[in-house]
Amino acid sequence: MADAKPDELPPMPRIPRRAAAGLLGLLRARGDILSAFPEEAYRREVFTLRLPRRLLLVANHPDVVRDIFVLRHETYQAKSTSMVRALEPVIGDSLFINHGAVWEQRRAAIAPALHIAGLAAFEAHFATAAEELVEVLASGPAEVEIGAPLAAATARVMMLALFGGASPPAAANALAARFTLYQQAAEHLDVIGLLGLPALFGRGQGLRARTHAAALRAMVGQALENVGTPTPVMEALRTAAGDSAEALVNETAMMLLAGSETAANALTWTLWLLATHAEARAQVLAEIDRLPPRAPDVAALAALPYARMVLYEAMRLYPPVPVLSREALAPGRIRRWEVPKGSFVLAVPWLIHRHSAWWEAPHSFRPERFSPEAARLQPKFTWLPFGLGPRVCAGAAFGMAEMLTFLAVLLRRFSIAPAPGFVPRPRARLTLRPAAGMRLLLTPRGG
Ligand code: HEM
Repeated sequence: MADAKPDELPPMPRIPRRAAAGLLGLLRARGDILSAFPEEAYRREVFTLRLPRRLLLVANHPDVVRDIFVLRHETYQAKSTSMVRALEPVIGDSLFINHGAVWEQRRAAIAPALHIAGLAAFEAHFATAAEELVEVLASGPAEVEIGAPLAAATARVMMLALFGGASPPAAANALAARFTLYQQAAEHLDVIGLLGLPALFGRGQGLRARTHAAALRAMVGQALENVGTPTPVMEALRTAAGDSAEALVNETAMMLLAGSETAANALTWTLWLLATHAEARAQVLAEIDRLPPRAPDVAALAALPYARMVLYEAMRLYPPVPVLSREALAPGRIRRWEVPKGSFVLAVPWLIHRHSAWWEAPHSFRPERFSPEAARLQPKFTWLPFGLGPRVCAGAAFGMAEMLTFLAVLLRRFSIAPAPGFVPRPRARLTLRPAAGMRLLLTPRGG
């Protein structure tokens, strides 16, 4: 396949004209929540679904999203049971799925270690992982499924940030591969949790997921045992965890996953979009080729403004975290809806990012939307790849710097094109992945 024609849309699930009856629709979608949203979901401001045991409300207007996630954080800060159930076997009760005083204490301990002001401390890790990735790719065949090596490489970045040099590249490969297996097994549980059905329904998957979760936690425990002088991020995790060895495994597993899955998925889709859009690709390459021929340090990333716009646009079309879900801690009212305690309250980046009121040609790939002039006109809270409010991603700046470094190193070395005949299909699991991987053709630049 060659470059996309100007009016060709990047891949997306078929949007049903009308909603299948709520519960049935979700069940039929088999957990692929994206293909369950009908046309009107891309136009509505708020909509609800009555589940057997609770109300599910989707906030689809930036003011409502802000109201829930920023202004009424106290009431809507808890992650939904479905999210907790899907992640708890791996990350325990860590920061990501905790709330209240425990979350506050851990967030305060961990977030400063990832702050934008200290990013230069990680630039060598970004460069090491990106260069190792390029070597792996250069020694393999030209046609490659890029998702798995990217997941391993972003896991490598996190291993370096957490454990320093004490952890070998193979450990990152094993971790990323196991987490993919875990996601596959846990996917079904997610729907069951969302529907409020008893856990009994998912017993088969539950067993498999638990096996993978135990393996993941064993890997984390092993890495913690081998750690030498603790890195600043590890110090922060130790402060967050206090004296508890289990809490330290929880927080470490959480960081490894929160920091690697998301960035790998965003890069996967970005590479596809660049492989299919010649003009954007040429602009990104022009920026990269103006840099010195080595991995850029964090300061040099400022010279890649168009590549940054491409990443923003890729995460608009394919938000790595496609659903932000919360559970009401107290009864309240959202617009005209009475929302009982225990209701699920969602913002769905996938929908808001493609909402016809907020985005022109919402399904098209147009990095220019994120030029400084255009971005100034875009209403706030219509672009949420990193979430929002007090629980906004703690590693957003880290992730952006990492992804830009990876793009610079990869695209300097390889020309990219889609593998012949391959078209990816987005699939929402815990993160938004291509359903059958991402097949690209990599050829050495100039070769
Ligand atoms: C492309 C990269 C990334 C994306 C799209 C992303 C996205 C997100 C989103 C959407 C949330 C909030 C989830 C919610 O509100 O339910 C989140 C939370 C979080 N992310 Fe990221 N993330 C990325 C990279 C990273 C990296 C590199 C790190 C660590 C180095 C990280 C650490 C965290 C942590 C610790 C939280 C929990 C924050 C809290 O609950 O207070 N993320 N991320």
